[in-house]
Amino acid sequence: MIAIGSDHAGFALKQAIMAHLKELGIDFKDYGTYDDKSCDYPDYAEAVCKAIIEGDAEKGILVCGTGIGISIAANRHREIRAAVCTDEFTARATREHNDANVICLGGRVVGEGVALGIIDAFLNTEFSNGANHVRRIAKLS
Ligand code: RB5
Repeated sequence: MIAIGSDHAGFALKQAIMAHLKELGIDFKDYGTYDDKSCDYPDYAEAVCKAIIEGDAEKGILVCGTGIGISIAANRHREIRAAVCTDEFTARATREHNDANVICLGGRVVGEGVALGIIDAFLNTEFSNGANHVRRIAKLS
């Protein structure tokens, strides 16, 4: 299962991403926010990260205005490796090299078409499992 969450600034892009996941038949759960009223991005990062840490979700997708605030919040957890991505190359690389388990997008940064490509790259790329990458990730936590 993929856990997804956003604040108000990421709400519209989150809706588009969920429609895309639904079309692809990918199992996901929406952890809010559920409308575009102003709210606090750490709350949604927390809900998505909790789902991953407790084993309810394998990966997470978080969206705020820039992707940055919500990634900072997510990365407070030692089990979480959250990456802000603005293109498909970095989305693939962060899976291959960092085994990122959360991707963060900026609803005010990337358009819907680019965002959906980033999501596909993130979800379809496996961790390389290379010894160097495994060792570096171990040092993170
Ligand atoms: C909300 O205005 C905005 O600050 C937030 O979505 C995010 O971009 C923070 O990093």
